[in-house]
Amino acid sequence: NTRSVIRGCGSYLPEHILTNDELSKRVDTSDEWIVQRTGIRQRHIAGEGETTSQLGVKAAQAALDAAGLTADDIDLVVCATSTPDFTFPATATVIQHALGITKGAAFDVQAVCSGFVFAITTADKFLVSGSHKRALVIGAETFSRILDWEDRGTCVLFGDGAGAVVLEAQPGDGSLEDRGVLTTHLRSDGAHRAKLFVDGGPGSTGTVGHLRMEGREVFRFAVGMITDVIEDALKALDLTAEDIDWFVPHQANRRIIEASAQKLGFAPEKVVITVDKHGNTSAASIPLALTQAVSDGRIRAGDLVLIESLGGGFTWGSAIIRW
Ligand code: ACO
Repeated sequence: NTRSVIRGCGSYLPEHILTNDELSKRVDTSDEWIVQRTGIRQRHIAGEGETTSQLGVKAAQAALDAAGLTADDIDLVVCATSTPDFTFPATATVIQHALGITKGAAFDVQAVCSGFVFAITTADKFLVSGSHKRALVIGAETFSRILDWEDRGTCVLFGDGAGAVVLEAQPGDGSLEDRGVLTTHLRSDGAHRAKLFVDGGPGSTGTVGHLRMEGREVFRFAVGMITDVIEDALKALDLTAEDIDWFVPHQANRRIIEASAQKLGFAPEKVVITVDKHGNTSAASIPLALTQAVSDGRIRAGDLVLIESLGGGFTWGSAIIRW
């Protein structure tokens, strides 16, 4: 009964903050429109030359510090990103080398905004199998690099940042009281590709491309898919929404978060929201929100935490973790 227990978490946000008012000087938008439709007030933007791996290294180091561990203790690095430094090698290997990790394996997971849920699920399966002992699971993104800064329908929504957790294989008794990842549920359906995609890549234009989204279409599917995969997680452990201490959703949009929380019956005070300050940081949003809620004293050891996401593909997923 091995469990993947969270030993620590950490995050990093680039210094530069871009407010809605500043954005409204670049495109035809307003603070009022953005706040009302999305809840976003500001986002962080990476500096010139500041890469996804650099953000990831800082978040990973913060997570190691919080765990009281060093690079030597890590034998698995899984990085979730859709904005890698290079087409290859994997950003995880760049981070691995920058941290001085020489043991084990490092690779990227690409599930867009669901990347962190897919990455923690993957790492959990490695640890539970006994093949690896301690994993760094990182979500790191520089979406500012793939935005069309003239498209007001998308450029106001996203931001840059990184977050990470250290997972450690520990013995459990197989009960609900165990610390660690208790259940994970992943889904995808490529039929939704055209609703949210990047119009570039080696197999198409040969350029990096820009993010394209049919916002209203994404919105239409989001709440139903999110609530389905959360119900799967609750059912797997025979829990109800009341048993969950903290709901930490992917931070895409305040209206999607509030509608799903309401539909599932999570009390508003149990919902962790950072989208107002960070915007949508894709795969980084959940570990950024987890780190926020741990550092301000909300999430404590023993709490039941539910994470959830929906992203391009579509991909969607959920996990219940006892902290
Ligand atoms: N400022 C002002 N007006 C705008 C802006 C803007 N930034 N963007 C669009 N508009 C206009 C449109 O042009 C349109 O004008 P029109 O009526 O004259 O044609 C009007 O606002 C309404 O546009 P809609 O797209 O229908 O607006 P909607 O209410 O759907 O809100 C939004 C748009 C915020 C994008 C919403 O659809 C949404 O949140 N969708 C989900 C998107 C999302 O969360 N994606 C990420 C999830 S997956 C992932 O994380 C990768």
